This record gives sequence, structure tokens and C-alpha cells, in this order.
Amino acid sequence: DKGNHRHFMEKEIYEQPEVISHALGHYVDFANHTVNAETGLIDFTGVSRLAISACGTAYLAGLVGKYWFERYARLPVEIDVASEFRYREMPLSPDQAALFISQSGETADTLASLRYCKENGLKIGAVVNVKESTIARESDAVFPILAGPEIGVASTKAFTCQLTVLASLAIAAGRARGTITEAEEKELVRHLTEVPRIMSAVLNSIQGQIEQLSRDLSKVKDVLYIGRGTSFPLAMEGALKLKEISYIHAEGYAAGELKHGPIALIDENMPVIVIAPHDRFFEKTVSNMQEVAARGGKIIFITDAKGAAASNLPTMATIVLPEVDELIAPMVFSLPIQLLAYHTAVFMGTDVDQPRNLAKSVTVE
Ligand code: F6R
Repeated sequence: DKGNHRHFMEKEIYEQPEVISHALGHYVDFANHTVNAETGLIDFTGVSRLAISACGTAYLAGLVGKYWFERYARLPVEIDVASEFRYREMPLSPDQAALFISQSGETADTLASLRYCKENGLKIGAVVNVKESTIARESDAVFPILAGPEIGVASTKAFTCQLTVLASLAIAAGRARGTITEAEEKELVRHLTEVPRIMSAVLNSIQGQIEQLSRDLSKVKDVLYIGRGTSFPLAMEGALKLKEISYIHAEGYAAGELKHGPIALIDENMPVIVIAPHDRFFEKTVSNMQEVAARGGKIIFITDAKGAAASNLPTMATIVLPEVDELIAPMVFSLPIQLLAYHTAVFMGTDVDQPRNLAKSVTVE
């Protein structure tokens, strides 16, 4: 049932505040602002390295998770798309742990990667939406994302729920390993618990502007997304979402890679979507944006109020989100990239919930 929405994808985008609340309810102690025992099913204390493997959007959630585990828990993370992970003969030892992220819990390559890690004696955690899935069954610890059924082929609410669970696990790992203090844990958890409220406000405020912008975007052939830090995986997620449902060619790049190749593509026909909250990387990303502007590129600037005030470069549009802590920026900044892909596809008249050539669950290699 789509409720009063035109597509499941739209419904699922708007469900995010609610389902993230459910996920937080499962992993967070709201009264004490700590993560709870559910996050402790894997003991990260003596773990030397964490391997993460997944496909598509779940892989990009894992890539955001890598930044968090390394920053907050000082835990080195190896991450690969599962189709590479399963064959690349990565040396593993039992003092390592592995996380597999999958909405369906049935993705063939992710399952094969899990089995490879199991054979090597690693402790296995599964971040899944379908709790009765094969990946969940074969894991030592199951971390449900509690997104509810996701019908739209393009993943939206599963992505932000995966992020919520990974953030909780990274905080738990940081506490277990003594790399964040109790006070820091409380501060981070406090930010996490604000996500549903902030997301609701953003969903209400950006809708009209995004719809307008999507009309222009539906006329272009190529789009480039750039970002730094956790906005880099988000840039790739934005590009993936757009190409999946609107069939517009899109690429996501680390902003610093621009001058190593993709800048050659910039002209007035290819919009560049710059994802840049006013964080540690902001100045660097703005200098990349400058390079785009200098070559006549059209910029769609997704930032916060502080970021918007700090740049005076001409843009095709500036989407202003609330200023939030770096930890939760990936969840909040997911909204404009999801809505931009959604409305662009609607303008183009594609089958948003069932895009051509794609299946919701990829159970063959
Ligand atoms: C993107 C998308 C796919 C899936 C990928 C993994 O919108 O839906 O890229 O994320 O096929 O699927 P799961 O998470 O079921 O393993």
C-alpha cells in the first residue's frame, strides 16, 4: 500500500524518520544517551581489523561505516564490493571480524564473502533488513536494521537505517576499545537520536525546491557528484540512485580526484552536484567547486547554512540543510540526493519502483 504516495520509493523516503526511530530504539538507551547491549553482540575489544563486504547501496553504507569505525574506534577497516571480496584471496586471521551488509540478506556475492570469512575463522556480523534471510542465519551476530519492507527497487530507507546501525556499532566499538570517552559517547548518541526529528524537518522544507530543480536535471545527459569524507560515499550513492531510476549517466567522485581526470568532462552541459556540509573538509571541497565554476560548470550545491554563507560562487541551485554534527550528516544529506533522483525520474516518466533491468534481490552471481 503506497498510502497517499505515487510510488513506493516516495513513501519509503518519507518513512525514514519513523523507521530510523525504530532502529534507534533497538540500539540506543534514550534515557542515558548510550548505545545498549544489542550493539555488543560482537566484542570489538581485541579485534585487529574489520572486513566489510556488500553490494551496491549496502556497500556504500559500509563505506560510510569505514570512516566511522576508523575515526571513533580506531579500528582499521577493509572494505570491498562482495563480487571482488569473494575472489581476491584476502589474507584473514581469527583476530579479525567481518560485517556483511544486505537489505535482502540473500545477495549471492555477499553470502559467498561471508562463507569465505567463516572458513577463515572470523567472527561474523550481519547488518540485514530481512531477519529470516540466509545471511542472517549464517552469521554469529545479527544486527537488524528494522526498516520494514522495502518495495522500491532503489534502496532508500534501508540505506539510512544501515547507516544508523553502523553508527551505533562504531560508537559501541569505540567504547569497547577505549577510543572514545563516556562523555563523547553520550554526545554522539545524542546527535544520533536527533536524526528523525531533523530528517522530518528537512523533508518538509526541501520538497518544492527539489521538484523544481529536478525539472532541469531531467534534461541533462550526464551528472557528476563530488564530496569528501563521508560525503564521498554519499556522492557515489547519489550517482547510483540517479542512474538506476532516471537512466541519466552519473558518476560519484571523491572531490580531490576531480583534477585527476573527471575535470576534463566539465562544461555547461554537465551539472556538478557538490555535497559539502560545513565540516573539516569544507574549504577543500569549495576549492574543487571553484575549479568547476572556472570551467563554466553548473553547480548544484548541497550544504548547510554556514556553508551557504561561506561561499559566493554562482550556482544553479543551493540546497540548504540544517547544520548538524559530522556523525549524522550522511543521514541528513541522503534526503536531497534521494529526492533529486526520485523527482527527476518522475519527470522523465520512468518506472520508478521497477526500473528496467534491475531486480530487488540479486541471488545469482
Ligand atoms: C541500489 C540497490 C542495489 C542493492 C544491492 C544490494 O538502490 O538497491 O544496489 O543495494 O543489490 O542488495 P542487498 O542490500 O539486498 O544485498
